Amino acid sequence: MEALLGSTISTTFPFSFPIARPSLRSSPSLPITPTRSQRAAITAVAPGNFRRPQASSDPSASSSTDTLVASSGEPSKMKAWVYDEYGDVSVLRAEDGVLVPQVEEDQVLVKVVAAALNPVDFKRMQGKFKATDSPLPTIPGYDVAGIVVKVGSQVKNLKEGDEVYGDINEKALENPKQSGSLAEFTAVEEKLLALKPQKIDFAQAAGLPLAIETAYEGLEKAGFSAGKTILVLGGAGGVGSLVIQVAKQVLGASRVAATASTGKLELLKSLGVDLAIDYTKENFEDLPEKFDVVFDTVGQGDRAVKAVKEGGSVVVLTGAVTPPGFRFVVTSDGASLTKLNPFIEEGKIKPVVDPKGPFPFSQVVEAFTYLETGRATGKVVIYPIP
Ligand SMILES: NC(=O)c1ccc[n+]([C@@H]2O[C@H](COP(=O)([O-])OP(=O)(O)OC[C@H]3O[C@@H](n4cnc5c(N)ncnc54)[C@H](OP(=O)(O)O)[C@@H]3O)[C@@H](O)[C@H]2O)c1
Repeated sequence: MEALLGSTISTTFPFSFPIARPSLRSSPSLPITPTRSQRAAITAVAPGNFRRPQASSDPSASSSTDTLVASSGEPSKMKAWVYDEYGDVSVLRAEDGVLVPQVEEDQVLVKVVAAALNPVDFKRMQGKFKATDSPLPTIPGYDVAGIVVKVGSQVKNLKEGDEVYGDINEKALENPKQSGSLAEFTAVEEKLLALKPQKIDFAQAAGLPLAIETAYEGLEKAGFSAGKTILVLGGAGGVGSLVIQVAKQVLGASRVAATASTGKLELLKSLGVDLAIDYTKENFEDLPEKFDVVFDTVGQGDRAVKAVKEGGSVVVLTGAVTPPGFRFVVTSDGASLTKLNPFIEEGKIKPVVDPKGPFPFSQVVEAFTYLETGRATGKVVIYPIP
Protein backbone atom coordinates (compact mmCIF):
# COMPACT_ATOMS: atom_id res chain seq x y z
CA MET A 1 0.00 0.00 0.00
CA GLU A 2 2.87 2.35 0.75
CA ALA A 3 3.74 2.08 -2.92
CA LEU A 4 0.40 3.64 -3.77
CA LEU A 5 0.19 6.30 -1.14
CA GLY A 6 2.57 9.16 -1.03
CA SER A 7 5.02 7.29 -3.18
CA THR A 8 8.33 9.00 -3.75
CA ILE A 9 9.38 8.96 -7.34
CA SER A 10 13.11 8.99 -7.68
CA THR A 11 13.74 6.84 -10.71
CA THR A 12 15.11 8.63 -13.74
CA PHE A 13 14.15 7.09 -17.04
CA PRO A 14 16.46 7.36 -20.02
CA PHE A 15 14.54 9.28 -22.66
CA SER A 16 14.07 7.49 -25.91
CA PHE A 17 11.69 9.11 -28.31
CA PRO A 18 9.61 6.86 -30.56
CA ILE A 19 10.01 7.38 -34.26
CA ALA A 20 7.16 9.30 -35.84
CA ARG A 21 5.14 7.55 -38.50
CA PRO A 22 6.83 8.31 -41.84
CA SER A 23 3.68 9.60 -43.53
CA LEU A 24 3.21 12.18 -40.82
CA ARG A 25 6.86 12.98 -40.33
CA SER A 26 7.22 13.93 -43.95
CA SER A 27 4.54 16.57 -43.55
CA PRO A 28 6.34 19.93 -43.57
CA SER A 29 3.97 21.60 -41.18
CA LEU A 30 0.74 20.95 -39.37
CA PRO A 31 -2.17 23.15 -40.41
CA ILE A 32 -2.71 25.50 -37.52
CA THR A 33 -5.48 27.98 -37.05
CA PRO A 34 -4.39 30.38 -34.32
CA THR A 35 -7.01 30.05 -31.60
CA ARG A 36 -8.66 32.27 -29.07
CA SER A 37 -6.21 32.12 -26.24
CA GLN A 38 -3.12 30.44 -27.40
CA ARG A 39 -2.20 31.50 -30.92
CA ALA A 40 -1.21 27.99 -30.18
CA ALA A 41 2.08 27.55 -31.81
CA ILE A 42 2.09 23.82 -32.22
CA THR A 43 3.17 23.89 -35.82
CA ALA A 44 5.84 21.41 -36.70
CA VAL A 45 8.87 23.43 -37.56
CA ALA A 46 9.83 24.02 -41.11
CA PRO A 47 13.05 25.97 -41.68
CA GLY A 48 12.52 29.59 -40.76
CA ASN A 49 9.06 28.86 -39.48
CA PHE A 50 9.34 29.30 -35.79
CA ARG A 51 8.99 32.05 -33.26
CA ARG A 52 12.17 33.41 -31.82
CA PRO A 53 12.56 33.62 -28.06
CA GLN A 54 11.87 37.06 -26.65
CA ALA A 55 15.07 39.05 -26.67
CA SER A 56 13.65 41.92 -24.64
CA SER A 57 11.75 41.92 -21.38
CA ASP A 58 10.36 45.38 -22.10
CA PRO A 59 6.58 44.92 -22.35
CA SER A 60 6.18 48.02 -24.50
CA ALA A 61 8.38 46.43 -27.13
CA SER A 62 6.05 43.43 -27.54
CA SER A 63 2.70 42.74 -29.15
CA SER A 64 -0.28 42.14 -26.87
CA THR A 65 0.07 38.37 -27.02
CA ASP A 66 3.75 38.60 -26.33
CA THR A 67 3.77 41.03 -23.45
CA LEU A 68 6.15 39.32 -21.14
CA VAL A 69 7.62 40.86 -18.06
CA ALA A 70 10.22 38.20 -17.70
CA SER A 71 12.12 35.98 -20.03
CA SER A 72 14.41 33.14 -19.17
CA GLY A 73 15.44 32.37 -22.72
CA GLU A 74 13.54 29.10 -23.04
CA PRO A 75 13.91 27.34 -26.37
CA SER A 76 11.52 28.14 -29.20
CA LYS A 77 10.95 24.49 -30.07
CA MET A 78 9.92 21.59 -27.88
CA LYS A 79 9.03 17.93 -27.75
CA ALA A 80 5.33 17.19 -27.56
CA TRP A 81 2.77 14.47 -28.23
CA VAL A 82 0.45 15.51 -31.02
CA TYR A 83 -2.53 14.18 -32.98
CA ASP A 84 -4.00 15.79 -36.05
CA GLU A 85 -6.97 13.49 -36.57
CA TYR A 86 -9.42 11.91 -34.15
CA GLY A 87 -9.06 8.24 -33.34
CA ASP A 88 -7.54 5.68 -30.98
CA VAL A 89 -3.98 5.79 -29.64
CA SER A 90 -2.61 5.15 -33.13
CA VAL A 91 -3.19 8.83 -33.97
CA LEU A 92 -0.71 9.92 -31.29
CA ARG A 93 2.77 10.77 -32.41
CA ALA A 94 5.80 12.28 -30.79
CA GLU A 95 7.20 15.45 -32.35
CA ASP A 96 10.31 17.34 -31.41
CA GLY A 97 9.92 20.40 -33.62
CA VAL A 98 6.83 21.87 -32.00
CA LEU A 99 6.69 25.56 -31.23
CA VAL A 100 6.65 26.57 -27.59
CA PRO A 101 3.26 28.24 -27.01
CA GLN A 102 3.12 31.99 -26.70
CA VAL A 103 2.03 33.45 -23.42
CA GLU A 104 -0.95 35.78 -23.12
CA GLU A 105 -1.09 38.64 -20.62
CA ASP A 106 -2.87 36.60 -17.96
CA GLN A 107 -0.85 33.44 -18.54
CA VAL A 108 2.42 31.93 -17.42
CA LEU A 109 4.63 29.56 -19.36
CA VAL A 110 5.20 26.37 -17.41
CA LYS A 111 8.14 24.04 -17.96
CA VAL A 112 6.28 20.78 -17.55
CA VAL A 113 7.92 18.45 -15.03
CA ALA A 114 5.06 15.94 -14.82
CA ALA A 115 1.64 15.54 -16.43
CA ALA A 116 -1.28 13.20 -15.81
CA LEU A 117 -3.93 11.63 -18.00
CA ASN A 118 -7.67 11.76 -17.45
CA PRO A 119 -10.44 9.87 -19.28
CA VAL A 120 -11.37 13.19 -20.91
CA ASP A 121 -8.04 13.04 -22.77
CA PHE A 122 -8.91 9.83 -24.63
CA LYS A 123 -12.56 10.76 -25.06
CA ARG A 124 -11.47 14.04 -26.64
CA MET A 125 -8.93 12.22 -28.82
CA GLN A 126 -11.71 9.87 -29.99
CA GLY A 127 -13.66 12.91 -31.15
CA LYS A 128 -16.44 12.59 -28.58
CA PHE A 129 -16.39 16.35 -27.92
CA LYS A 130 -15.69 17.32 -31.50
CA ALA A 131 -18.45 19.95 -31.56
CA THR A 132 -16.91 22.01 -28.77
CA ASP A 133 -13.25 21.04 -29.19
CA SER A 134 -10.55 23.44 -30.35
CA PRO A 135 -9.24 22.88 -33.88
CA LEU A 136 -6.82 20.06 -34.62
CA PRO A 137 -3.92 19.41 -34.34
CA THR A 138 -3.92 18.87 -30.61
CA ILE A 139 -1.32 18.40 -27.93
CA PRO A 140 -3.37 16.51 -25.32
CA GLY A 141 -3.11 16.85 -21.55
CA TYR A 142 -5.10 18.78 -18.94
CA ASP A 143 -3.10 18.16 -15.75
CA VAL A 144 0.31 19.70 -15.21
CA ALA A 145 2.91 20.17 -12.50
CA GLY A 146 5.95 22.23 -13.34
CA ILE A 147 7.96 25.40 -12.99
CA VAL A 148 7.02 28.89 -14.15
CA VAL A 149 9.59 30.13 -16.68
CA LYS A 150 7.80 33.23 -18.01
CA VAL A 151 4.95 35.45 -16.88
CA GLY A 152 2.54 37.62 -18.85
CA SER A 153 2.24 41.33 -18.10
CA GLN A 154 -1.03 41.00 -16.16
CA VAL A 155 0.12 38.12 -13.97
CA LYS A 156 -0.09 39.24 -10.36
CA ASN A 157 0.94 36.49 -8.00
CA LEU A 158 3.15 34.01 -9.82
CA LYS A 159 6.78 34.59 -10.73
CA GLU A 160 9.54 32.79 -12.53
CA GLY A 161 10.78 29.80 -10.60
CA ASP A 162 7.47 29.09 -8.81
CA GLU A 163 6.53 25.42 -8.61
CA VAL A 164 2.91 25.14 -9.68
CA TYR A 165 0.22 22.65 -10.54
CA GLY A 166 -3.21 22.82 -12.13
CA ASP A 167 -5.70 21.78 -14.81
CA ILE A 168 -4.89 23.99 -17.80
CA ASN A 169 -8.44 24.04 -19.23
CA GLU A 170 -10.97 26.15 -17.38
CA LYS A 171 -13.92 24.36 -18.96
CA ALA A 172 -13.06 20.74 -19.69
CA LEU A 173 -15.20 20.43 -22.81
CA GLU A 174 -15.41 24.01 -24.08
CA ASN A 175 -12.57 24.86 -26.42
CA PRO A 176 -9.83 23.17 -24.38
CA LYS A 177 -6.36 24.37 -25.32
CA GLN A 178 -4.73 23.10 -28.49
CA SER A 179 -1.42 23.11 -26.69
CA GLY A 180 -1.78 20.79 -23.70
CA SER A 181 0.45 19.45 -20.97
CA LEU A 182 1.99 16.46 -22.78
CA ALA A 183 4.83 18.68 -23.90
CA GLU A 184 7.92 20.32 -22.52
CA PHE A 185 6.08 23.62 -22.06
CA THR A 186 2.48 24.72 -21.70
CA ALA A 187 0.91 28.17 -21.33
CA VAL A 188 -1.70 28.50 -18.60
CA GLU A 189 -3.84 31.25 -17.09
CA GLU A 190 -2.53 32.20 -13.66
CA LYS A 191 -6.00 31.73 -12.15
CA LEU A 192 -6.00 28.02 -13.06
CA LEU A 193 -2.80 27.30 -11.13
CA ALA A 194 -1.77 27.00 -7.50
CA LEU A 195 1.58 26.66 -5.85
CA LYS A 196 2.58 23.01 -5.59
CA PRO A 197 2.44 21.74 -2.01
CA GLN A 198 5.98 21.13 -0.79
CA LYS A 199 4.98 17.84 0.82
CA ILE A 200 4.47 16.15 -2.53
CA ASP A 201 6.67 15.78 -5.58
CA PHE A 202 5.82 16.86 -9.12
CA ALA A 203 4.57 13.44 -10.21
CA GLN A 204 2.18 13.26 -7.27
CA ALA A 205 1.05 16.85 -7.82
CA ALA A 206 0.35 16.28 -11.52
CA GLY A 207 -2.23 13.63 -10.65
CA LEU A 208 -4.34 15.88 -8.49
CA PRO A 209 -5.83 18.90 -10.29
CA LEU A 210 -8.66 17.75 -12.55
CA ALA A 211 -9.64 14.85 -10.30
CA ILE A 212 -9.59 16.72 -6.99
CA GLU A 213 -11.36 19.73 -8.50
CA THR A 214 -14.06 17.36 -9.77
CA ALA A 215 -14.33 15.76 -6.34
CA TYR A 216 -14.54 19.09 -4.54
CA GLU A 217 -16.94 20.74 -6.98
CA GLY A 218 -19.23 17.71 -7.02
CA LEU A 219 -19.35 17.55 -3.23
CA GLU A 220 -20.07 21.27 -3.03
CA LYS A 221 -22.83 21.03 -5.62
CA ALA A 222 -24.32 18.11 -3.69
CA GLY A 223 -24.38 20.27 -0.56
CA PHE A 224 -22.12 17.88 1.29
CA SER A 225 -21.26 18.99 4.83
CA ALA A 226 -19.94 17.74 8.15
CA GLY A 227 -21.76 14.80 9.67
CA LYS A 228 -23.23 13.55 6.38
CA THR A 229 -22.75 10.08 4.91
CA ILE A 230 -21.57 9.27 1.40
CA LEU A 231 -21.27 6.31 -0.96
CA VAL A 232 -18.58 6.65 -3.63
CA LEU A 233 -18.97 4.44 -6.70
CA GLY A 234 -15.54 3.74 -8.15
CA GLY A 235 -13.56 4.58 -5.01
CA ALA A 236 -10.20 3.38 -6.37
CA GLY A 237 -10.18 5.55 -9.49
CA GLY A 238 -8.61 8.94 -10.08
CA VAL A 239 -11.68 10.90 -8.99
CA GLY A 240 -13.12 8.37 -6.52
CA SER A 241 -9.93 8.14 -4.44
CA LEU A 242 -10.12 11.90 -3.95
CA VAL A 243 -13.87 12.10 -3.32
CA ILE A 244 -13.31 9.74 -0.40
CA GLN A 245 -10.51 11.86 1.05
CA VAL A 246 -12.11 15.27 0.49
CA ALA A 247 -15.42 14.07 1.97
CA LYS A 248 -13.74 12.60 5.03
CA GLN A 249 -10.75 14.84 5.68
CA VAL A 250 -11.93 18.22 4.42
CA LEU A 251 -15.70 18.20 4.77
CA GLY A 252 -16.07 15.98 7.85
CA ALA A 253 -18.11 13.04 6.56
CA SER A 254 -19.43 10.91 9.39
CA ARG A 255 -19.30 7.75 7.29
CA VAL A 256 -17.82 6.92 3.90
CA ALA A 257 -18.68 3.82 1.88
CA ALA A 258 -17.11 3.04 -1.49
CA THR A 259 -17.10 0.35 -4.16
CA ALA A 260 -14.14 -1.35 -5.85
CA SER A 261 -13.11 -4.82 -6.97
CA THR A 262 -11.66 -7.29 -4.46
CA GLY A 263 -8.00 -6.38 -4.80
CA LYS A 264 -8.60 -2.68 -4.12
CA LEU A 265 -10.59 -2.91 -0.88
CA GLU A 266 -7.51 -2.42 1.32
CA LEU A 267 -6.64 0.73 -0.61
CA LEU A 268 -10.14 2.06 0.07
CA LYS A 269 -9.74 1.44 3.80
CA SER A 270 -6.34 3.14 3.82
CA LEU A 271 -7.98 6.23 2.30
CA GLY A 272 -10.47 6.42 5.18
CA VAL A 273 -13.37 4.33 3.90
CA ASP A 274 -15.52 2.89 6.70
CA LEU A 275 -17.43 0.43 4.51
CA ALA A 276 -15.53 -1.02 1.53
CA ILE A 277 -17.95 -2.78 -0.82
CA ASP A 278 -16.65 -5.44 -3.20
CA TYR A 279 -18.75 -4.87 -6.30
CA THR A 280 -17.86 -8.32 -7.62
CA LYS A 281 -19.70 -9.86 -4.65
CA GLU A 282 -22.35 -7.37 -3.52
CA ASN A 283 -24.82 -4.98 -5.10
CA PHE A 284 -24.53 -1.70 -3.20
CA GLU A 285 -28.17 -0.83 -3.88
CA ASP A 286 -29.30 -3.97 -2.03
CA LEU A 287 -27.69 -2.84 1.24
CA PRO A 288 -30.19 -1.71 3.88
CA GLU A 289 -28.04 1.37 4.54
CA LYS A 290 -28.82 4.49 2.50
CA PHE A 291 -26.64 7.60 2.14
CA ASP A 292 -27.01 11.38 2.16
CA VAL A 293 -24.94 11.60 -1.01
CA VAL A 294 -24.01 9.05 -3.67
CA PHE A 295 -21.09 10.10 -5.89
CA ASP A 296 -21.03 8.02 -9.08
CA THR A 297 -17.75 8.03 -11.02
CA VAL A 298 -18.55 4.78 -12.87
CA GLY A 299 -21.71 5.42 -14.89
CA GLN A 300 -24.23 3.62 -12.66
CA GLY A 301 -26.70 6.48 -12.30
CA ASP A 302 -29.78 4.24 -12.43
CA ARG A 303 -28.51 2.12 -9.53
CA ALA A 304 -27.00 5.04 -7.62
CA VAL A 305 -30.41 6.64 -7.01
CA LYS A 306 -31.53 3.48 -5.19
CA ALA A 307 -28.82 3.96 -2.56
CA VAL A 308 -29.59 7.56 -1.63
CA LYS A 309 -31.72 8.69 1.29
CA GLU A 310 -34.96 10.52 0.65
CA GLY A 311 -33.99 14.14 -0.10
CA GLY A 312 -30.33 13.26 -0.69
CA SER A 313 -28.13 14.07 -3.70
CA VAL A 314 -26.67 11.89 -6.42
CA VAL A 315 -23.67 13.21 -8.37
CA VAL A 316 -23.22 11.48 -11.74
CA LEU A 317 -19.99 12.11 -13.64
CA THR A 318 -20.60 9.89 -16.63
CA GLY A 319 -23.39 7.92 -18.30
CA ALA A 320 -27.13 8.39 -18.08
CA VAL A 321 -28.61 10.53 -15.33
CA THR A 322 -31.67 9.31 -13.46
CA PRO A 323 -33.55 11.83 -11.25
CA PRO A 324 -32.75 13.02 -8.63
CA GLY A 325 -29.20 12.56 -9.94
CA PHE A 326 -27.44 15.50 -11.53
CA ARG A 327 -24.44 15.89 -13.76
CA PHE A 328 -21.90 18.70 -14.06
CA VAL A 329 -18.67 19.29 -15.94
CA VAL A 330 -15.70 20.33 -13.87
CA THR A 331 -14.41 23.91 -13.91
CA SER A 332 -10.69 24.30 -13.33
CA ASP A 333 -9.94 26.71 -10.51
CA GLY A 334 -6.56 27.38 -8.93
CA ALA A 335 -8.26 28.88 -5.88
CA SER A 336 -9.81 25.49 -5.07
CA LEU A 337 -6.37 23.89 -5.18
CA THR A 338 -4.99 26.63 -2.94
CA LYS A 339 -7.82 25.98 -0.48
CA LEU A 340 -7.01 22.26 -0.45
CA ASN A 341 -3.22 22.72 -0.23
CA PRO A 342 -3.10 22.76 3.61
CA PHE A 343 -4.75 19.33 3.72
CA ILE A 344 -2.11 18.03 1.34
CA GLU A 345 0.72 19.65 3.31
CA GLU A 346 -0.61 18.03 6.48
CA GLY A 347 -0.78 14.63 4.78
CA LYS A 348 -4.55 14.43 5.21
CA ILE A 349 -5.05 14.16 1.45
CA LYS A 350 -2.65 11.72 -0.18
CA PRO A 351 -2.20 11.52 -3.94
CA VAL A 352 -2.63 8.00 -5.28
CA VAL A 353 -0.28 7.42 -8.20
CA ASP A 354 -0.99 4.20 -10.08
CA PRO A 355 1.87 1.79 -9.32
CA LYS A 356 2.18 0.83 -13.01
CA GLY A 357 3.52 4.34 -13.50
CA PRO A 358 4.77 6.92 -13.59
CA PHE A 359 5.12 6.40 -17.33
CA PRO A 360 8.09 8.17 -18.91
CA PHE A 361 7.31 10.67 -21.66
CA SER A 362 8.31 8.13 -24.30
CA GLN A 363 5.49 5.81 -23.09
CA VAL A 364 2.49 8.09 -23.43
CA VAL A 365 0.83 5.60 -25.80
CA GLU A 366 1.19 2.83 -23.21
CA ALA A 367 -0.19 5.18 -20.54
CA PHE A 368 -3.26 6.03 -22.65
CA THR A 369 -3.83 2.35 -23.43
CA TYR A 370 -3.68 1.50 -19.74
CA LEU A 371 -6.04 4.30 -18.65
CA GLU A 372 -8.55 3.20 -21.28
CA THR A 373 -8.84 -0.24 -19.63
CA GLY A 374 -10.77 1.50 -16.85
CA ARG A 375 -8.73 -0.41 -14.27
CA ALA A 376 -6.30 2.28 -13.19
CA THR A 377 -5.71 2.73 -9.47
CA GLY A 378 -5.58 6.42 -8.69
CA LYS A 379 -3.82 8.49 -11.32
CA VAL A 380 -1.89 7.61 -14.47
CA VAL A 381 1.07 9.98 -14.35
CA ILE A 382 3.61 10.89 -17.04
CA TYR A 383 7.05 11.53 -15.58
CA PRO A 384 9.70 12.51 -16.30
CA ILE A 385 9.08 14.96 -19.14
CA PRO A 386 12.30 15.71 -21.07
N1 LIG B 1 -18.13 15.39 -15.47
C1 LIG B 1 -16.88 15.72 -15.16
O1 LIG B 1 -16.55 16.90 -14.98
C2 LIG B 1 -15.85 14.64 -14.99
C3 LIG B 1 -14.64 14.94 -14.37
C4 LIG B 1 -13.72 13.91 -14.17
C5 LIG B 1 -14.01 12.62 -14.61
N2 LIG B 1 -15.19 12.39 -15.25
C6 LIG B 1 -15.54 11.05 -15.70
O2 LIG B 1 -15.66 10.23 -14.55
C7 LIG B 1 -15.26 8.91 -14.86
C8 LIG B 1 -14.21 8.46 -13.85
O3 LIG B 1 -13.01 9.22 -14.01
P1 LIG B 1 -11.67 8.72 -13.32
O4 LIG B 1 -10.61 9.66 -13.70
O5 LIG B 1 -11.92 8.47 -11.88
O6 LIG B 1 -11.47 7.33 -14.07
P2 LIG B 1 -10.44 6.16 -13.77
O7 LIG B 1 -9.40 6.62 -12.83
O8 LIG B 1 -10.02 5.60 -15.06
O9 LIG B 1 -11.35 5.05 -13.04
C9 LIG B 1 -10.82 3.78 -12.94
C10 LIG B 1 -11.39 3.09 -11.71
O10 LIG B 1 -12.77 2.79 -11.92
C11 LIG B 1 -13.05 1.64 -11.14
N3 LIG B 1 -14.22 0.94 -11.63
C12 LIG B 1 -14.47 0.52 -12.90
N4 LIG B 1 -15.67 -0.11 -12.94
C13 LIG B 1 -16.15 -0.10 -11.68
C14 LIG B 1 -17.35 -0.57 -11.07
N5 LIG B 1 -18.29 -1.22 -11.79
N6 LIG B 1 -17.55 -0.35 -9.76
C15 LIG B 1 -16.61 0.30 -9.01
N7 LIG B 1 -15.46 0.76 -9.52
C16 LIG B 1 -15.24 0.58 -10.83
C17 LIG B 1 -11.82 0.78 -11.33
O11 LIG B 1 -11.70 -0.06 -10.18
P3 LIG B 1 -11.72 -1.67 -10.41
O12 LIG B 1 -10.46 -2.00 -11.16
O13 LIG B 1 -11.78 -2.16 -9.02
O14 LIG B 1 -12.95 -1.97 -11.22
C18 LIG B 1 -10.68 1.78 -11.41
O15 LIG B 1 -9.96 1.90 -10.20
C19 LIG B 1 -14.78 8.94 -16.31
O16 LIG B 1 -15.84 8.53 -17.14
C20 LIG B 1 -14.48 10.41 -16.54
O17 LIG B 1 -14.57 10.79 -17.90
C21 LIG B 1 -16.12 13.37 -15.45
